[in-house]
Amino acid sequence: MFLMSRRDQFLQLRSYAPVILPSLLLCDFGNLEREVDRLSAAGIRGLHLDVMDGQFVPNLTYGMPIVAGLSGITEMPLDVHLMIASPEKYIGPFADSGAAAITIHAEATNDPVTALQQIRDLGVAAGIAINPDTDLDSIAPCVGHCDMVLIMSVQAGFGGQSFRREALEKLSEARQMFGADVILEVDGGVNNSTIANCAQAGAELFVVGSGIFKAVDYSAAVSELTNLAGARAS
Ligand code: DX5
Ligand code: ZN
Repeated sequence: MFLMSRRDQFLQLRSYAPVILPSLLLCDFGNLEREVDRLSAAGIRGLHLDVMDGQFVPNLTYGMPIVAGLSGITEMPLDVHLMIASPEKYIGPFADSGAAAITIHAEATNDPVTALQQIRDLGVAAGIAINPDTDLDSIAPCVGHCDMVLIMSVQAGFGGQSFRREALEKLSEARQMFGADVILEVDGGVNNSTIANCAQAGAELFVVGSGIFKAVDYSAAVSELTNLAGARAS
């Protein structure tokens, strides 16, 4: 049987765009399997995992064991967002844990191109992320070396922050700079009020934390977000 690489599995998500990726930061970690089932039943196709180290960002979350645990209970591609210093040290371990995509922050490394190549060499989709105050030009060297650009619409570190509108222009500029082949993802403060603008600016993958986990009915929240994102101007 032909088995797709995890990278291909992640890249395929794009064909379903707009795709909502729940950020599990706010989920019930005491009932991970139940949360995954509820998200799956709500039509979710992939999970976004926010790894924070208390150094690159002030907050501290989880690491490889949670990614490995999730990969044991779901077939959904795992989109691992590394908000950590020296990300290159952990690319191998996160790939081994089952990540389908690994995104590193431009602000966390001096050599993003080598790190992105390291990710791709492991059969994992490679993403480069920038915080709201980081200039898009700083990731120009990554053109041709990544599968995804993640435009942060809040300062990385915490869920529940307000959307920063300057992300919209950055999304359109990122499309021009990186071309049609790259997946554009947006993360932070994406909700019913901001998602349509993100879609119009070219985002295809939408990371949503509070907008799903604060809702009582995940299915209703995901459908509404998907509809709003799909109502993009042609
Ligand atoms: C922020 C994280 C996000 C965030 C999304 O550093 O990368 O994934 O938790 O959560 P909301 O949608 O609540 O902004
Ligand atoms: Zn994230």
